[in-house]
Amino acid sequence: MRIGIIGAGNIGATVARLWLKAGHEVAISNSRGPDTLQTLIAELGPKAQALTLENAARFGEVVMEAIPFGHYASLPAAELKGKILISAANYYPQRDGQIDLGGLSQSEFIAQHLPGVRLVKAFNTIYFKHLAQMGDTTLPLDERIAIYVASNDAEAKATVSKLIEEIGFAPVDTGSLSESTRQEPGSAIYNQPMKAKEARKALAGMV
Ligand SMILES: NC(=O)c1ccc[n+]([C@@H]2O[C@H](COP(=O)([O-])OP(=O)(O)OC[C@H]3O[C@@H](n4cnc5c(N)ncnc54)[C@H](OP(=O)(O)O)[C@@H]3O)[C@@H](O)[C@H]2O)c1
Repeated sequence: MRIGIIGAGNIGATVARLWLKAGHEVAISNSRGPDTLQTLIAELGPKAQALTLENAARFGEVVMEAIPFGHYASLPAAELKGKILISAANYYPQRDGQIDLGGLSQSEFIAQHLPGVRLVKAFNTIYFKHLAQMGDTTLPLDERIAIYVASNDAEAKATVSKLIEEIGFAPVDTGSLSESTRQEPGSAIYNQPMKAKEARKALAGMV
């Protein structure tokens, strides 16, 4: 599959490595332009390329955004229309400034900003070093570390869940975008690496 990645930092570069290893093609982008990503591309190899944000979004059959939430307005809305977009971003007011979500969850807010996008909130709860190290494709799903997924689009959620399984983790469904607050900073499962079977129990215990 062709995967576009917006944000080439801790999370963006880590998922690029993992999805390349799983056999996908990756185009990655950042705020400063493709020329600034040549060292990373040399490390990632021939199935990786650096593009602009817009071209990475065009390239991807699936796109991930992993930029600080405060910069959400930089996401290329026209190019993301109709695309499956994984949002790994979290809202930290001390980093991102005060953003009025208008009563929406953070992922609903991003989806509202990107008309026609097929948004899946995922990868936001896992520390990038755990993401790099804790995947294990030899384990049965229940024994793998959970990566939480929320979406209003069942097909998009299934596609992203498969991409999670391919890198050795287990997708655990938290529900719709409005329910994705269950996987946001401050929740009981946030940044707590758990096997999938424990993660489901933890979710069941959450109001
Ligand atoms: N760190 C983690 O373990 C972790 C885990 C889960 C979720 N997250 C969330 O994932 C997001 C990224 O975190 P991170 O730790 O990967 O951040 P990071 O290492 O600081 O990397 C951020 C990346 O986003 C790019 N970026 C910043 N502003 C941009 C803009 N306006 N347009 C396009 N690209 C832009 C940066 O490009 P330049 O360098 O060119 O500016 C950089 O490549 C955050 O929302 C964070 O809360 C982080």
